Amino acid sequence: MSAPNQPRRRALITPALPYANGNIHLGHLLEHIQVNTYVRARRMAGDDVVYVCGVDSHGAAVEIAAKKQGKAPEAYVEEVRLAQQTSFERFSVRFDGPDHEHYGSTHTPENHQHAIRFFEALKAAGHITTKEVEQLQDPTDGRFLADRFVKGTCPKCGAKDQYGDACENCNSTYRPTELIDPVSVVSGARPVLGKSSHYMVTLGAYADRLKEYLSAAGVLHESLRNFLDTWFNDGLKDWDISRDGPYFGFRIPGEDNKYFYVWLDAPVGYISLTERALGTQGKWQDWWRDAAVDVEHFIGKDILYFHTLFWPAMLMATGDNLPRAIHAHGMLTIDGVKMSKSRGTFINADDFAAVVEPQALRYYYAAKLGPEPQDIDLSLEDFCNRVNADLVNNLVNLVSRTVPLLHRLFHGKPTTLPDDHTHLVTEMQEAAHRVEGLYRSLDFAAAVRTCTELGSKANKLLQDTAPWELVKTNPQAAHETLTTALFVGKSCLALLKPVLPGVVEKLEALLKVRPFTFENATDPLKPNTTLATYEHLFARLDLKVVATLVKPTEATPTPEKKPEKKDKKAPPSSTPPAEIVFDDFAKVDLRAATILEAKAVEGSDKLILVKADVGDLGVRDIFTGLRPHVQPEQLQGKCVVVVVNLAPRKMAKFGTSHGMVLAVGEPPRPLFVDGARPGDRVS
Ligand code: MSP
Ligand code: ZN
Repeated sequence: MSAPNQPRRRALITPALPYANGNIHLGHLLEHIQVNTYVRARRMAGDDVVYVCGVDSHGAAVEIAAKKQGKAPEAYVEEVRLAQQTSFERFSVRFDGPDHEHYGSTHTPENHQHAIRFFEALKAAGHITTKEVEQLQDPTDGRFLADRFVKGTCPKCGAKDQYGDACENCNSTYRPTELIDPVSVVSGARPVLGKSSHYMVTLGAYADRLKEYLSAAGVLHESLRNFLDTWFNDGLKDWDISRDGPYFGFRIPGEDNKYFYVWLDAPVGYISLTERALGTQGKWQDWWRDAAVDVEHFIGKDILYFHTLFWPAMLMATGDNLPRAIHAHGMLTIDGVKMSKSRGTFINADDFAAVVEPQALRYYYAAKLGPEPQDIDLSLEDFCNRVNADLVNNLVNLVSRTVPLLHRLFHGKPTTLPDDHTHLVTEMQEAAHRVEGLYRSLDFAAAVRTCTELGSKANKLLQDTAPWELVKTNPQAAHETLTTALFVGKSCLALLKPVLPGVVEKLEALLKVRPFTFENATDPLKPNTTLATYEHLFARLDLKVVATLVKPTEATPTPEKKPEKKDKKAPPSSTPPAEIVFDDFAKVDLRAATILEAKAVEGSDKLILVKADVGDLGVRDIFTGLRPHVQPEQLQGKCVVVVVNLAPRKMAKFGTSHGMVLAVGEPPRPLFVDGARPGDRVS
């Protein structure tokens, strides 16, 4: 990787373009915080950077999602685009753009033009052919069904309700035509086999050039080479770049009902977004045709194939710049497992920002990110500990302790840095160059560590010298210690500005200094400046509050599994639960039920087993965890509200619960209803 302090360089830097079918979540943010930190560091080092992103607007999923909401796809995508832009801004992620439009879209006239340009170039090179493709089709509207839009029984293991490409039960892969009893996810009808002519890119024609390109130094992390070898050894397959309507995308020139496959025009978006962002400030060719520019893409490992094979081959056809680097990162896990909706760990950016200061997430991700594409784990407990220990108690403490003391004892002014007998100041000054290089080589974890280690030394100095005592006997020495500690704190935070822009801008105002760069980060504080009054830079995180982010959607009739509530205080709920639409509510089938029989479960001090009469739905065995609060006799003959469409749930060794009795209050009491008949719907 490049050495620090080289001449000003030009780079075009992008994250991947998030799909238009959902909100920004913590997984996306891992990528965006990595890229944003990198871009900020390069700019702080004086490099000339263009930084663009936008929503990936096209595809069958978007077309279907829009239709479901009764919206035109254009309107649907525009709503998603604005929502995603707002989420990013909360995390200090802002892209380049003209005027107000910063976060763009692939559904623009510019992108259409560029998509056609690529298609024509591939055609002119003789690398586009057509082929008859057999595919399942929805009989209701003639829609061809992508693998994910067909479900059925796995041909290998017989598991029901599996997608058309792979079985989640036995992990085997197959073709959708092999599914037993297939249904269209869109209409529920049984698909028929149809034929259609498709455009294909003969990727194999680029194999040698791709191999050579990808083996050049720095293009790809070495650990990913294995993937490539397998792909090349298996032989590159033709790439199908067309889709039949109904589809949301760009129509292929000369065709009535054929569209470019979303993955053709999505990476082209990197160029059209550049064009849009530059506005009248330059031409896209300045960034995509000039060999002096480094094009750098950041992506997750999951989309490596598209970025290492399809996209470079397309660029070879047009002669635009090939990426100088494709930086792949790993996937985010939460408490060691993939984000999951049912575990409640599928955390949206906005929900997170409503509960936790977003700068804290930037810090945590940076502290864990290195140049390797490993998965990154977010453990909420570790997150709180780390932010509190490194930021609040260490770096921020150097400022929050010293500035008020300087005001109290020395008119709010620092003094000249003393003779550096502890070498701390010299060490700090030497670190600046190193840290800049660490950002460039994407070793953010090492950059953060360098700063926190220096911060710890300064805190020790503060503690050992105790200037608040020393001032009584040696005011000058006390003044010097406070100045040194503040100097180290501000220098470390200045070097962490790419990670913590929000916090560090407040620091600049407090110290009344010019915006930090790597150049000036370790300049001594001016002895004649009166510092502003300290206003807090960063508040401690409270695990109890942070833990409320994880909200399992699965209802929990299993008090056996609930952790003992030692701390009776309910976590402060600073946010109301996420909003749901009526359809979400309507999914819950609530019924009145009469309890025919209730008895305490032997071997459990919490469970009561009831036989509940739910009218037409029969008599069901339901376990409740109400034993500590209610005697079984108190339930006998009563009418309660029951969730009847919960998946049956095994209650440890005691049996299976076929529903859940609703309770109210803390401690919970059963919710009794009057005047209802068993089986009546609660609405
Ligand atoms: N639309 C495509 C990319 C087109 S680029 C021309 C896409 N979208 S995505 O929304 O699914 O993902 C966008 C980026 O976020 C990808 O780089 C993906 O790897 C990353 N992540 C999505 N979920 C993630 C995690 N759970 N963890 C880390 N990164 C994740 O792919
Ligand atoms: Zn299977």
